[in-house]
Amino acid sequence: MGHNLLKGKKGIIFGALNSNSIAWKTAERCHEEGAQFVLTNAPIAMRMGEINELAEKTKSPIIPADATSMDDLKALFEGSMEKLGGKIDFVLHSIGMSPNVRKSREYTDLNYEYFHKTLDVSGLSLHRTLQTAYKLDALNDWASVVALSYIAAQRTFPDYSDMAEAKSLLESIARSFGYHYGKKKKVRINTISQSPTQTTAGSGVGGFDSFVKYADDMSPLGNASALDCANYTVSLFSDLTRYVTMQNLFHDGGFSNVGISRDVMQKFMK
Ligand SMILES: NC(=O)c1ccc[n+]([C@@H]2O[C@H](COP(=O)([O-])OP(=O)(O)OC[C@H]3O[C@@H](n4cnc5c(N)ncnc54)[C@H](O)[C@@H]3O)[C@@H](O)[C@H]2O)c1
Repeated sequence: MGHNLLKGKKGIIFGALNSNSIAWKTAERCHEEGAQFVLTNAPIAMRMGEINELAEKTKSPIIPADATSMDDLKALFEGSMEKLGGKIDFVLHSIGMSPNVRKSREYTDLNYEYFHKTLDVSGLSLHRTLQTAYKLDALNDWASVVALSYIAAQRTFPDYSDMAEAKSLLESIARSFGYHYGKKKKVRINTISQSPTQTTAGSGVGGFDSFVKYADDMSPLGNASALDCANYTVSLFSDLTRYVTMQNLFHDGGFSNVGISRDVMQKFMK
């Protein structure tokens, strides 16, 4: 049920691959809250055509864009302003991919071409997106940008591999660009550090199922779902959170502040 929290707002949503995607749930919730938006993803990710279903449901145009291509991003922002009839109020960056993780390379045996790709797709793409918007003056005053992160940016999770570095970069870009865009146009930029979630990107990480269970047992509220992440994102796109910027916001049921939980301790008791 919607509350018109985003009524009249125009957005761009990156990363809805299938109905499990965090971006997919966010698009559904933004639609329910009265927003209009463009859906985008890498052209290769659209070949299964699932995004058409979401576009129909949310009455959204689709503009393909590889988030590592400055030409694609420029065309995306220009096309979005044209299709939506004005500047943009919110952007969701829900993009992640590591060729090293995909090919199960050990952290001590990384391929550096892949590593560059990981950083470009999963980290620098946020800077590319923001710089494109900045130069085109494509965002309205008080616009809100959210990118999705993971706690491996702060703590080591061995199978998260080079995505940990990408997430540190992503969070740092949110802070640095948050300063410049905040000064220029009051644009706010935050990252949400989400619980492990059953999606295509998530399941690529080694031992993901046990990882999800462990995080669930460690979190007093349990793992946050993709739908709850979408709800949190809607609140950050809304006018109710106008002074939140340059933050990494944990959305993890309390996981990040727990040292040990009784549920996990019990597993070691004889
Ligand atoms: N699933 C989790 O456990 C989890 C936890 C914390 C954070 N996150 C983050 O949430 C975000 C969304 O991931 P998800 O879990 O919904 O998985 P997902 O696989 O559904 O989404 C990842 C998206 O990134 C897109 N993408 C990859 N390369 C791209 C490129 N070059 N240009 C544009 N788009 C590109 C994919 O097409 C896909 O739509 C990612 O940043 C991910 O790291 C996920």
